[in-house]
Amino acid sequence: MRFSAIFAACAASTAVMAMPQPGWLDHPAPPAPQGPPGPPGSSGCPTPPGPSSPPGQQCLDDRSAEAYVNNFIKTLKISGNDTAAFASAISAVANPSVQEISDSVNFLANKPYGSVSLDGISALENFHLSTPPGGIYQVSTLNIWHSCTAITWRWLFVLYPGAQPVRGINVFELGKNGKADRFYDEFNVAAWAEDLGYTITPPAGPPPS
Ligand SMILES: *[C@@H]1O[C@H](CO)[C@@H](O)[C@H](O)[C@H]1NC(C)=O
Repeated sequence: MRFSAIFAACAASTAVMAMPQPGWLDHPAPPAPQGPPGPPGSSGCPTPPGPSSPPGQQCLDDRSAEAYVNNFIKTLKISGNDTAAFASAISAVANPSVQEISDSVNFLANKPYGSVSLDGISALENFHLSTPPGGIYQVSTLNIWHSCTAITWRWLFVLYPGAQPVRGINVFELGKNGKADRFYDEFNVAAWAEDLGYTITPPAGPPPS
């Protein structure tokens, strides 16, 4: 098992569970470019706004949702020491006041459940510093769904060569400029923790029914 720098817990967190390098839990959030209004009925979106529609009524289309996710993935593949590249990539997908909210991350970072995991784009940048070279080893998209203003991305990560896969779901809540105001993400934190070197032992006896 490799305890590398990979996902050491957040830089800002106090050491959790005696991991050599607590760390890097999650990806920062990214926003996606806002596409043109889609045709009525596509993606469950309302009729696209006309020229005189009020601002804020544009609707994501499939292409812009996919482009957003791909731009977000770029942020996951940037090494921790490449701060300029990360700042540029994350600002393309997230607003300055972006919040990441994830109890999966809170577990790994030893933060209270229900609290904001990372508050503001500079928190994402600080967090990214602990990202290992090359970022997450493999990032695969399993599904993308979207509404007019939110994208749900189901993913599979391999944190480093030989790690067991981790599956999770991100929801990107986008502002009117098409960049994320908030992202929620939850994932198989048991598998992630095992990949980091945690030992997970079930209680004695039969599984709870
Ligand atoms: C980051 O570290 C790697 C390996 O240590 C090095 O090759 C690379 O040039 C560094 N990148 C930056 C932006 O410092």
